[in-house]
Amino acid sequence: SRLRQGKVTSSARFKSSPQGPSSPSLPSFGYAEVSTRKKTFAEVQTERLDQAERTVLIKCPSKLNEKKLLQYLASHGNIKSHFFFENRGISALIEFSEKSSIASLQDAVGIPSASEHHVVPFKSRLFTFTLKNPVSQHVEETPLHLSPQCHIPVKDLIEKLCLADSISSQMYILLNEYQLTEENIKLRFLACSLVRDFARAYFPDSTVKPFGSSVNMFGKLGSDVDMFLDFGDTGKHATKMKKGPFEMEYQMKRLPSERLATQRILSVIGDCLDNFGPGCGNVQKILNARCPLVKFSHKPTGFQCDLSVSNSIAIRSSELLYIYGCLDSRVRALVFTIRCWARVHGLTNSAPGTWITNFSLTMMVMFFLQRRSPPIIPTLDQLKDLAGEKDKHIIGGYDCSFVSDFRKIKPTKNTETLVICYLLINKPESSPLYIWNPFEQDLNISKNVNQPQLEKFIAMARESAWILQKEDKTQQMINKEPWGLAALLIPFGRNNSSKMKNRMKGIGSETIRSLLDSLKLNNASSQQKAVGK
Ligand code: GTP
Ligand code: MG
Repeated sequence: SRLRQGKVTSSARFKSSPQGPSSPSLPSFGYAEVSTRKKTFAEVQTERLDQAERTVLIKCPSKLNEKKLLQYLASHGNIKSHFFFENRGISALIEFSEKSSIASLQDAVGIPSASEHHVVPFKSRLFTFTLKNPVSQHVEETPLHLSPQCHIPVKDLIEKLCLADSISSQMYILLNEYQLTEENIKLRFLACSLVRDFARAYFPDSTVKPFGSSVNMFGKLGSDVDMFLDFGDTGKHATKMKKGPFEMEYQMKRLPSERLATQRILSVIGDCLDNFGPGCGNVQKILNARCPLVKFSHKPTGFQCDLSVSNSIAIRSSELLYIYGCLDSRVRALVFTIRCWARVHGLTNSAPGTWITNFSLTMMVMFFLQRRSPPIIPTLDQLKDLAGEKDKHIIGGYDCSFVSDFRKIKPTKNTETLVICYLLINKPESSPLYIWNPFEQDLNISKNVNQPQLEKFIAMARESAWILQKEDKTQQMINKEPWGLAALLIPFGRNNSSKMKNRMKGIGSETIRSLLDSLKLNNASSQQKAVGK
């Protein structure tokens, strides 16, 4: 909870931002710089989905002549991009320029012989490439470049962080190591596109689209792929019915509730994936959840996937976060830092439970950034005021409108360096932690968090504040000890809990109190929309 001075160092080491194919390779520090290059959420989605439809995945032998493989594939059409990655052996993702190349390739490939197993004759875009006569084939001397699909271990990250020159640059290094790469995003969209092939067997107009952290700029390598089945029918009824003196509509099966329809559709698609899907395993139907879903692991891409049926509000949340993530480079660096810190200290967990979720943590950080003076990101109400006719979305009675074109959003005047901070404010009801859902404002997105978890969160935050305050960077660097963010990513000793409690009365809590006071002075009227305890 302490502001730290620090500057962002050489931008050259930052990888290209994952969302737009032509997005900048440098971090940017003002909105104006970003706005001219970033695509809208819808543009990125359309482009990526189209790309995925022109893509195939090929399992390759470990000793491979890259040129020969590409030459063979090029006889079916121009290859626009490709990369290799390791996933229980080597695989290649091949993006053709034209969709027709895939049909040509599919025509030429064989069906596995059924000597040991009987095969289900579903023809997908997943292939296996083998060398008929491996010994006689000339293997390239230069080893294949394999694109990494997971981030470095925390201990290696800590080592890298120690070499940085400020906490700010440590946060950008963490972002750079953890964020999704261009290749990983392509794989995620391909996984959705492969599931879509099953859905289309029943619903020819349907699409499967990713949402959540795969598309909201806050995904880290290794996170799950949240995907939803979209029937693209919203609004179609109303417009079609208006035309002409007659009415024609489909005869459709009627069910007592939308929920039941969702459950039935997911159940069937889940069975399809389980029975016919090459490489689909551990299919679990979780149909009684608040949001019914099918969980499965997609072995060819290596992803854990959650498939649900069109959840418009979750998609709006993804777009909102995408906009926030695009507006200022500090947003993503701070969110990645807080998420990584929370994971290291066991405050978040991939299994569901009483801990805070990454989504809730992200919303807390957004709230914090909205409340800086001057604000780093605009409030949802301000984005709503900028919304044009096309941006209007009322979903289930909730107004989910906000501007989608960033050029309409004014740049922030805030030039602070990155800070590591948290805040605690009055909450409207009795759950230990209350975080407003941005659209369904009567829902608490952290309802699952219990008192012990919240206390642990606060204790960890205080301990972190204390570490940052007491440390002497120069001395630590001389002693080769982890400093700054690196020191915060080492699990705190278990026997330190009494020390940690004492620190609650120390300098750290004064800082928190003054921060709280400044927030109260900042905007007393919007206090009701506050986050936290
Ligand atoms: P990671 O998977 O942890 O990287 O982040 P994520 O944002 O993808 O979170 P998760 O997979 O848990 O959820 C996927 C999406 O579902 C989120 O991005 C949200 O849009 C939505 N979501 C998750 N939790 C909640 C919740 O408690 N309330 C609401 N309304 N939406 C949620
Ligand atoms: Mg997710």
